[in-house]
Amino acid sequence: MNLNIPEHILSITPYQPGKPLDELKRETDARRTIKLASNENPLGPSPLALKAIEHTLNRIHRYPDSRGYELTEKLSARLGVEPRQIVLGNGSDDIIAMLTRALLKPGDEAIAAKPSFLMYDIAVRCSGAELIEVPLKNLGIDLKGYEKRITPKTRLIFICNPNNPTGVAVAKQDFKRFFSEIPGDIVVVIDEAYIEFVRDKQALNGMEYFCGDRPIVILRTFSKAYGLAGLRVGYGVMPALISDLLHRVRGPFNVNILGQAAAAAALDDEAFLNRTLRLTHEGLDFLYSSLDKLGVRYFPTQTNFFLIDVQKDADMVYEDLLSLGVIVRSMSAYDFPTFIRVNVGLPEENSFFIEALQKVLS
Ligand SMILES: Cc1ncc(COP(=O)(O)O)c(C=O)c1O
Repeated sequence: MNLNIPEHILSITPYQPGKPLDELKRETDARRTIKLASNENPLGPSPLALKAIEHTLNRIHRYPDSRGYELTEKLSARLGVEPRQIVLGNGSDDIIAMLTRALLKPGDEAIAAKPSFLMYDIAVRCSGAELIEVPLKNLGIDLKGYEKRITPKTRLIFICNPNNPTGVAVAKQDFKRFFSEIPGDIVVVIDEAYIEFVRDKQALNGMEYFCGDRPIVILRTFSKAYGLAGLRVGYGVMPALISDLLHRVRGPFNVNILGQAAAAAALDDEAFLNRTLRLTHEGLDFLYSSLDKLGVRYFPTQTNFFLIDVQKDADMVYEDLLSLGVIVRSMSAYDFPTFIRVNVGLPEENSFFIEALQKVLS
């Protein structure tokens, strides 16, 4: 069969998600299994979101509101931007794909860090454009390095703040300088999937730079702190000129009816968000001190996940942890051959992980 597939599509390596817990349960005879691999919320979904889903269930024979009126209005009031400056997505992945579809063509260039979130690379390749990857500096995004790689072909810049997989946030001061120096016609995308977890007061919050004039896009998601990863809801805040373009390439009903209702309710569930943040920060502090006691090197984070240097082949440590019922992520495909990435779980899951890691490394 000769399908004449474009070379830029053939060049794509499919996204490798964290191993699903059910898959491990099918494969292992370990008595207990936990997943600390996809930066999900270990508390489960927000109770208010669950109630909203129940109330919406009898309407799932209807198409969802194409633009998500209620959720968009709520976000607009909360963020102090106009509803037309918000685009909802089937996860923030969907917004990344819309941005590259709408803004890039073959021959264009986009810039991102390496390693960073893998969907930037996939989305840019889908458009036939080229992703210029700038190595991290001390595990953080090197904005000066970005500046050096800007050319007349640069249309889009991705800044993952804080960066996945390293957990390092961009410093306010660094972004201020960067933003004032780059050409004003390059679209700057600040992906803030983990912004709720940030504790460092010097870290950038992209919304502070949103004014509606400069082409800046802030991405946020309900998948992490709000506990709705399985429903797929994210959004982007952007000037109306850009949202108008995204609506042209957007799937007409890209955010499902349950997701819209759940996300709108989760936004009001302040108690759940606060519980999530407390659990995450206490969990991180526990994991750090446990690793200190074991003498294992790790890298503090501004997110709900962090990197651990196991000083052994990370793929082997990943497999050994799997055999003990623990799913983490090996970072070998991210150019960190001895690092694993782990997210904070419930207190008992964190202890279980530390015990398993101790066994594997001893
Ligand atoms: C940095 C970053 N951006 C975006 C996403 C996509 O999130 P979602 O599509 O679930 O909103 C993720 C998910 O892991 C992420 O780590």
